[in-house]
Amino acid sequence: ALGTYEHYMLKEIEEQPAVMRNILAHYVNEDDEVVVDDEIVEAFSKADRVYIIACGTSWNAGLVGKTIIETLAGIPTEVHLASEFGYNTPLLSEKPFFIYLSQSGETADSRQVLVKTNKLGYPALTVTNVAGSTLSREANYTMLLHAGPEIAVASTKAYTAQIAVLSILASVTGKNKGIEVAQNFDVKQELSLVANNMDSLLTDENKFPSLVHNLLAETRNAFYIGRGTDYSVSLEASLKLKEISYIQCEGFASGELKHGTIALIEEGTPVIALITADHTNLQTRSNIQEVKSRGAKTCIISMEDVAQEGDDVVLPHVHPLYTALVSVLPTQLIAYYATLERGLDVDKPRNLAKSVTVE
Ligand code: M6R
Repeated sequence: ALGTYEHYMLKEIEEQPAVMRNILAHYVNEDDEVVVDDEIVEAFSKADRVYIIACGTSWNAGLVGKTIIETLAGIPTEVHLASEFGYNTPLLSEKPFFIYLSQSGETADSRQVLVKTNKLGYPALTVTNVAGSTLSREANYTMLLHAGPEIAVASTKAYTAQIAVLSILASVTGKNKGIEVAQNFDVKQELSLVANNMDSLLTDENKFPSLVHNLLAETRNAFYIGRGTDYSVSLEASLKLKEISYIQCEGFASGELKHGTIALIEEGTPVIALITADHTNLQTRSNIQEVKSRGAKTCIISMEDVAQEGDDVVLPHVHPLYTALVSVLPTQLIAYYATLERGLDVDKPRNLAKSVTVE
């Protein structure tokens, strides 16, 4: 139910701290240990390569998951669009492990790949919000998102839940394999910190309507830029803005701008930069200068560790593997308020359905 909210999307954005806590509650046992089914961890540990298959926002979450899995579990990971993979299958490794990421668990594009990998006998894990969904029933294993029903067409809490659940799988597996980074990574502590910092970000929500007005009113296009995980989040941020506000928006690797896309920057083009990592902070800032000097209207969303005076949104510090969980929140709010400002239907954008059951 909507309760006091006007839209499901805002309700679901605001539920994210609770979702993080709920995920911890479901994956922590009585002895206060983070646990994943032994069978899943065993099958996952045997893989020489992980293939994440997904669409839309779930694919974007997979990109962030890839870095987390490679860092904590030490398994090379590829992220594929389901609609491409099924018909243009790449050369597979000897011991592949498939992860189907899907909020609804009903996405036809993902299912056609699952049918194929099942036929080939490859192990498959579905990470989904819906128990008993098709992808869950047809895969060998399931991990649930525990995010509660997501009603708005624009996916928000499922994105952060998918990243959190993948990190739990990666961390338990990495600890099991004796990987040092995993042994030093305390999921409970780091995810709780994420939840608290999401809360504090959301208390600042009232600054977004004017920020959005100054940046995006009247524009037909916009860019999000970033490097590494910030680039992955840029892709999700731009999908969100496109699908509900109908502003044409592209997520871009900031270093690539000068290789072509910068030609699109003109007086007043909005460019939003995400900066959460120290090792790319200066590079991305120099890319912002490049677009600014060509007339772009810029907005910087940075993490407090690397923030500079004048940055528009400052994110509270979280573990480097978890920056996406907080940096995506302002971008969800930007999409929400840009859509409200245009008087459009936030929860039910044109041409879209909540779950896409055709290929
Ligand atoms: O249910 P799924 O996660 O499989 O759905 C995948 C996409 O259709 C979905 O994420 C879509 O991109 C959303 N509308 C994005 O907000």
